Amino acid sequence: MWQKICEATILSLTLEFPIRIVYRNLRLVAILLVSICFVGMPAQTPRQNSLLLGTAWYPEQWPEERWDADLSLMEQAHIHVVRVGEFAWSSMEPAEGVFRFEWLDQAIALAAKHHIAVVLGTPTAAPPAWLTTKYPETLRVDEDGKRAEHGNRQQFSFSDPVYRRFAAQIARKMAEHFGHNPDLLGWQLDNELAAPSFDANAKQQFHRWLQKKYGSIAELNRRWTTAYWSQTYDNFDEIPVHSKGENPALLLDWKRFVTDTWISYLQVQIDAIRPNILPAQFITTNTMHWNEGFDHYLLHKHLDIAAWDDYFPDGHLDPVLNAAEHDLVRGYKQRNFWLMETQPAFVNWGSVNSPLPRGVTREMAWQAVGHGADAVLYWQWRSALNGQEQYHGTMLGADGLPVPVYQEIEEVGTEFDRIGNVFSSSTPEAQVAILQSYDSRWAIDFQRHSQKFDYVTQITDVYKALQPLAQTIDIVSPDADLTRYKVVFAPALNVLSDATAKKLVTYCSDGGHLVLGPRSGMKDFDDALQTERQPGPLAAALGGHVDQYYALGKPVPVDEIDTSEAHGMATVWAESLVPTASDATVVLRYGKTADGWVDHQAAGISRHVGKGSMTYVGATLDSELMSSFVARILDEAGIAPILPGLPSNVELMQRVKPSGSRVWILINHGVAPEHIGLQRELKDMLTGMAGRFIDLPAHGVAVYSLEGVQ
Ligand code: GAL
Repeated sequence: MWQKICEATILSLTLEFPIRIVYRNLRLVAILLVSICFVGMPAQTPRQNSLLLGTAWYPEQWPEERWDADLSLMEQAHIHVVRVGEFAWSSMEPAEGVFRFEWLDQAIALAAKHHIAVVLGTPTAAPPAWLTTKYPETLRVDEDGKRAEHGNRQQFSFSDPVYRRFAAQIARKMAEHFGHNPDLLGWQLDNELAAPSFDANAKQQFHRWLQKKYGSIAELNRRWTTAYWSQTYDNFDEIPVHSKGENPALLLDWKRFVTDTWISYLQVQIDAIRPNILPAQFITTNTMHWNEGFDHYLLHKHLDIAAWDDYFPDGHLDPVLNAAEHDLVRGYKQRNFWLMETQPAFVNWGSVNSPLPRGVTREMAWQAVGHGADAVLYWQWRSALNGQEQYHGTMLGADGLPVPVYQEIEEVGTEFDRIGNVFSSSTPEAQVAILQSYDSRWAIDFQRHSQKFDYVTQITDVYKALQPLAQTIDIVSPDADLTRYKVVFAPALNVLSDATAKKLVTYCSDGGHLVLGPRSGMKDFDDALQTERQPGPLAAALGGHVDQYYALGKPVPVDEIDTSEAHGMATVWAESLVPTASDATVVLRYGKTADGWVDHQAAGISRHVGKGSMTYVGATLDSELMSSFVARILDEAGIAPILPGLPSNVELMQRVKPSGSRVWILINHGVAPEHIGLQRELKDMLTGMAGRFIDLPAHGVAVYSLEGVQ
């Protein structure tokens, strides 16, 4: 290892930039001194690690002589996995039908020598110039009819049959060539599926999709209510294709078509890859934040694991919102996921690309693990010398030597190596879930009624109130199995099919507690207004309904009707509710308002349903009232914090093993030290310090194994 680090660094000195040698040599000495502490530790074979550290590596951008130096520096940072290949189509197929994989064979073999495994990306987000030149129909057309040009990425049409043929071919060739290589852990398909295409072919496919769904144009006309504004269609080919400003039924079907098209786009690659690879290799794709471009639950049915890319462009980590996003991604498949990309300090695409403060890169890595990540990969290892992302954060500088954040990532790698195996087979287990519905989100976004009504905020407002109390939360699809949850929150479940409504009533009858939020049950599966007042098919079980909804110009007062007598405000939305069953209870009530419409009306009602209950809250509650209300719901359901009494900046994450034994991660997200009571004597696996209390520094992390601890 020593020799390799020296070789790596000397190589970068001699091969690339022969100036500023003196300065570099000083840095080299410093790096070598730091590494003395770690070189004695043999790297483990990556597949034995339960937590993997990784980075995106682009060997095609560098001379082969440099690769060993890179991999040595990776090994020194305890990196176990590299993602390679995802934009390298022109290097893998330099001319039509001419495949060159030798360079990648070399890169993978060399990585293996350094105990580094590989995730292989299919390069379909970046088609080569020969392809787009010879087959211009493969280029995406935007909504205004403008065809993309070569030179950027994601310029392809997701529905174009010619593009799909080439995509399937490169995927199959790669799978045939690499699929039995034991150094490959898995496959990433494409990269961050993004924009749909509005080309003629896509439009035609949309029309055929509608025809298949509705059978006849008369049925479509009926369900879309096309008598409105003379929208009545005579045949499917007349139907316009837009993503905004249209009949909401059309817009919702367009989103569903886009979902199906992305699924079939990926399926073409899955069919090419799956028969040619080792069964242990997973297939995934990397997704983006709260991206609503397609239904992520449906897409992930076709993938083995979920993976996502986590960035804070302004360098300011919001720990609660970040926690919610990890839980969102864990919910795509209701199992652990990979953090396929995250930033080494800073990005290049925000308005001010500030770095994460010192310690926050490590804090974010452990937070990801706490929420179910089994791998954390940094984008990227080293910037290409040219290209669109020269300023992005990296682990190495353009000189091929570590930049300051390298050391922090190396610390994470050391920790993953040392204690990662304690997380083996563990996952977060929640008693509480929040339902997230793409149909509802889309339907609300088509007609927000108040621009302040943001679907994601509806979810995160509930999440923020829940987190300190429940400490583990799932965010899942309304189609998920809900029987494992004591309480389910459904903020703004706007589009509600009869089947989902039935399932939710059964959930309550069997003992579950369902809490619906504003705008729930307003639309049917076709995005048409329900003819029963909200919550439509749930109104009978609730024993009450919404009398009228109001977008609020000014907040209105709301009182909680129970012993706490909490008071607060409805901020964005207020629905006046009417209990209809004698056993329905008013749990929230509006006060006196300026315009008088909701004065003293019910803002929330609740009713026992079978062994459980159903509650409807018609107002967007301010954070204090939301916290008080959520506390009451959890209390009634018998849910208590895993570790109570934590300071507000401190997060506890728990992963549970099949045996029932647990691992805790405690993180101080604050900027000042915190003194934390543990309620029992525990030993922090990171520091080896034991006690009933811990003093966690700012951005500090502690890990506890509770095997055998009651
Ligand atoms: C991601 C993308 C990467 C890189 C990164 C920069 O969205 O997948 O290829 O561009 O952003 O932050």
